[in-house]
Amino acid sequence: MADSGIITKQDFLGRDVVSIDDFSTSEIDYILDHAEKVQKWPQEFEGSMQGKQMMPMFFENSTRTATSFQVAMHNLSGSVVDLDLERSSIKKGETLRDTIKMINGYKPDVIVIRHSKDGSARFVADISPIPVMNAGDGKNQHPTQTLLDLYTIKEIKGTLDNVKIAIAGDLKYGRTPHSLALALARYEGCDMSFVSPESLSMPKDLLARLDKQNIMYTESGLNDLEEVINNCDMVYMTRVQRERFPEGPEGEHEYDRVASEYCLKESMLENVGARFKILHPLPKVFEIEDSVDDTDYAYYFRQAENGVYIRMALLDLVLGGYDD
Ligand code: CP
Repeated sequence: MADSGIITKQDFLGRDVVSIDDFSTSEIDYILDHAEKVQKWPQEFEGSMQGKQMMPMFFENSTRTATSFQVAMHNLSGSVVDLDLERSSIKKGETLRDTIKMINGYKPDVIVIRHSKDGSARFVADISPIPVMNAGDGKNQHPTQTLLDLYTIKEIKGTLDNVKIAIAGDLKYGRTPHSLALALARYEGCDMSFVSPESLSMPKDLLARLDKQNIMYTESGLNDLEEVINNCDMVYMTRVQRERFPEGPEGEHEYDRVASEYCLKESMLENVGARFKILHPLPKVFEIEDSVDDTDYAYYFRQAENGVYIRMALLDLVLGGYDD
């Protein structure tokens, strides 16, 4: 996406939030600044979504994304009509296309969708006259998570330049490491270390994009995790995406093998820098030892809180809340 320089609130009005690639770096910076205002002066945004309605459609499970979108809309005085998929006619075989076309007739102001299929959010955006926010489509994109990850990294470091970050875990099926790596690559001096089992390494096409931009990165196995994090500002841990492994005994065996060797233990943090932080989009399952939660390095619960500010900022920008 070309960077056009000066950005105003009007630039976001009515836009879809489907992929982080749809936003220029200046636009991303504007969204992060707007989220900071929302966090610092929430009272100034109260009422900005008065009379506006959000329709979340979560075809896959979610705790953080679903609830933080709802909290964000409530904080801005908007309303939420949640489609209960368990009781919906999708269970009778109604297509996504028909469901969306019909929902559009009810005239919500924004649709928030999570779906297991890569590209589903773009499909929905293309047939919807109203803005669509992608809450995660398969292993493809989770742009609001990427924005909150960037917001959190900036909160920790004070800048998005010269970030030295390890990104660890399931780098094949995890959508968050993909969009985070590509987003960080836009900033000066980014240095990324990808740590994963060989079977779950970063997709080759993504590495090719980084190579094209001359981005510094290394790839290593899980045995090197401790050594790698000693030289980083932070590590972004990710869950092994069990639901995206091939079905059947082979997929199960591979999952069990990876699960048994992947865990960040408290003892591995002895030589990290004093200001080192651990991020994780959550949910975490076995990949971080419980005792790590009580160290000053754990930052993932704070990171999840930032999701409310980012989603409030996006709703305010896309649906045209108050002027600054
Ligand atoms: N980080 C994230 O997307 O969490 P949920 O799956 O709980 O929404």
